[in-house]
Amino acid sequence: MAEQKDLDFTYTTIDEIFRLSMGESGDYSGAKYDGNFSMSLEEAQKAKHKFIADSLNITKGSKVLDMACGWAPFIRYIIHERNAESIGLTLSQGQADACQKNGYNVMVKDCRYVKPEDFGTFDAITCIGGLEHFCSVEEWQAGKQKEVYRDFFKTVHDLLPVGGRFYMQTMTFSKNMIEFEELDVNAKKGSAAYVMALMVKEFPGSWLPYGPEMVIKCAEPGFKLISQSSGRLDYIETIAQWRKKFRKFNLKKYWLYLSLIPRYFTDMEFRHLVAIFKVSPNKVCFEKEVMDHYRLVFEKV
Ligand SMILES: C[S@@+](CC[C@H](N)C(=O)[O-])C[C@H]1O[C@@H](n2cnc3c(N)ncnc32)[C@H](O)[C@@H]1O
Repeated sequence: MAEQKDLDFTYTTIDEIFRLSMGESGDYSGAKYDGNFSMSLEEAQKAKHKFIADSLNITKGSKVLDMACGWAPFIRYIIHERNAESIGLTLSQGQADACQKNGYNVMVKDCRYVKPEDFGTFDAITCIGGLEHFCSVEEWQAGKQKEVYRDFFKTVHDLLPVGGRFYMQTMTFSKNMIEFEELDVNAKKGSAAYVMALMVKEFPGSWLPYGPEMVIKCAEPGFKLISQSSGRLDYIETIAQWRKKFRKFNLKKYWLYLSLIPRYFTDMEFRHLVAIFKVSPNKVCFEKEVMDHYRLVFEKV
């Protein structure tokens, strides 16, 4: 599993740059264009929020747990558009500080270990782009991946009433995934071996499920699947829009980029993180169908 230090590396490092690029409560997960790429990124993210809130029957007063909440974009939506109540959990201190400053009820807590005694139970639960971080390469190599996901679904199960719904979206490996031994940061630029090696650098402590089937199977028998759709093409467009926003000039942001230069020369891992901004390995992985992306709605039975 990714630990707090890993998630601080991935998210807290870019906290201010992210907020200056995407807004204080920007989404850092695939939007929902449904193939209509004339939509703006903001419209497509809002369409995603609406889809999730509708799928989970979130209305006025619903109590919602947003696991792996990032900078709280979904929390912002359900508070303002549905008058719902929400608690958000993240493992990035920078995200939690920013969310609290913006008035959201967000804390640093590992969502995989939440118990009903902590906050009570919920009407609905979301985990948007969190599962990717729950199983490490080492756990996968030790054959523990399914156990990790089953334990997670057990946690969610205990927090919902029968009939309560859970939404998750997650990247998965897809039909062109290569062998782990082939991953190599020195491989040909643009190759699956190279971009997958960068992915592992960008998301330390993280490994993906092998297709949605693995996730759906691990959710049984406590959950039935209500709906499933691939967001792979939508994610490619999302990343293309993120790249423009990260590059858009803003004096403070460019100053922050400059302030990171010394670290670039002294920290090899950080140098790989910078390469990610140039290459967008996840976009290449989606294009090559090394990876896919799924939106899954579950109901507790
Ligand atoms: C890709 S971001 C998605 C953020 C947000 N859901 C969104 O859509 O913008 C992944 C998030 O997962 C969080 N995360 C990963 N593992 C976690 C864990 N075990 N407990 C709580 N949060 C976790 C990270 O801190 C980060 O906020």
